Amino acid sequence: MDEIRMGIVGLGGRAIHGWIPLLQRMRGFRITAICDPMLALHDRARARVQNPSEVKAYARYEEILADPDVDAIGLTARCEEQGALAAHALEAGKHVASEVPAAHRLEDCWRIVAAAERSGKVYLLAEQCRYAGYIESWRKMVAQGQLGKLTLCEGQYFHYYVMKAFRNPKTGEFIHPDQITHHPEVECTWMHRMPPIHYLPHDLGPMLKVIDDRVVEVMAMSTDAPSAVHPTLVSPDMQVALMRTAKGVILRMAASFNQPHPEAEYHWQQVIGTKGSVEWRRSGRDLPKLWLADSQMFDKSGMEWRYERTDAPAEARGSGHSDMDYYVHASFRDAVWGLRPPEYDVYKAMETTAPAILAAESINQDGKKLRVPDFRPGNLRRPGSMPGS
Ligand SMILES: NC(=O)c1ccc[n+]([C@@H]2O[C@H](COP(=O)([O-])OP(=O)(O)OC[C@H]3O[C@@H](n4cnc5c(N)ncnc54)[C@H](O)[C@@H]3O)[C@@H](O)[C@H]2O)c1
Repeated sequence: MDEIRMGIVGLGGRAIHGWIPLLQRMRGFRITAICDPMLALHDRARARVQNPSEVKAYARYEEILADPDVDAIGLTARCEEQGALAAHALEAGKHVASEVPAAHRLEDCWRIVAAAERSGKVYLLAEQCRYAGYIESWRKMVAQGQLGKLTLCEGQYFHYYVMKAFRNPKTGEFIHPDQITHHPEVECTWMHRMPPIHYLPHDLGPMLKVIDDRVVEVMAMSTDAPSAVHPTLVSPDMQVALMRTAKGVILRMAASFNQPHPEAEYHWQQVIGTKGSVEWRRSGRDLPKLWLADSQMFDKSGMEWRYERTDAPAEARGSGHSDMDYYVHASFRDAVWGLRPPEYDVYKAMETTAPAILAAESINQDGKKLRVPDFRPGNLRRPGSMPGS
């Protein structure tokens, strides 16, 4: 397969400004179909493709899955069924590259794993921050034992993103939450109801890569709903999960979509071990930091780590999100071509998704500590089967 024929599902901003232009720029991809139940968005997407007359447009998901000219689904839909859509595509024999988060229900995580195992098709969660330069550097330091035994790992994803909560169902136009009284036609989107902590994979994924570990227990807390910033939003302003990993590290991760924050606070992480610590920058003027216990360091030292990588190939530069967007598609392409399995395989993807879903469940159960299942096949589950079957 010289070219992977892609069907793009979900024609919002991420598809229009990210996936469609980038896939057309990268070697090895051709967009052959687009899909969104909202017909008003089809023309805008068509206008972005290089070969509009050759691209089929579908309103129904089943139709794009039945298209023999589609090898792979690029899932850029924002909906509660996102995980089920991915599983359905794998079951239909399509490869899947899915935007974050991967799923919003635990059963969909299992369905994705079982379908990927049964079909042999590639499933890739397109979380790009795990390819950042500093994440790679931290991963190496941890693997070499420079930070000692890890004890605490913290992270957050803050994104003041209230514009996505209400939408005109005919035009697809988003309406600001403070303006909805003037727009009786609006409908609530999934973002209106989504527990913010469901977005954890965006930061938990990179952190689990750094520490090479998986979460076994999770409990979480939430601020009250509705939002204190925009009372028309039913989602809370802040949710925080506390987790324990198989190697005994404590993780604390926060997620927030309703409250303003400075630019530098989108992503933030730190990793602390018995021999040292690394920390991402706290503000635009700040630097990432390193401290090593046995190096005569009286204080943390500023480091020139960036999202960008020093070893980025030409194809990566300018690809989006500080060049990181390139890596998800390159990894997907190489896996579909059979050159190498994705480093972020389906098990690792679900290991970052399930704790997020269970964190929201813990909040529903007043902070109860919940066990995270092991998605890898073993004595209790054969590859391709659902647990307990
Ligand atoms: N990795 C990143 O940095 C990054 C950045 C932005 C968005 N995202 C992710 O990308 C995805 C899309 O984000 P967006 O900002 O474009 O969202 P959006 O709300 O603007 O657009 C999503 C589109 O999905 C469509 N959709 C909903 N349910 C569908 C279904 N069942 N089948 C087909 N289409 C369906 C909607 O009609 C809408 O047009 C989300 O999952 C989001 O989390 C990731």
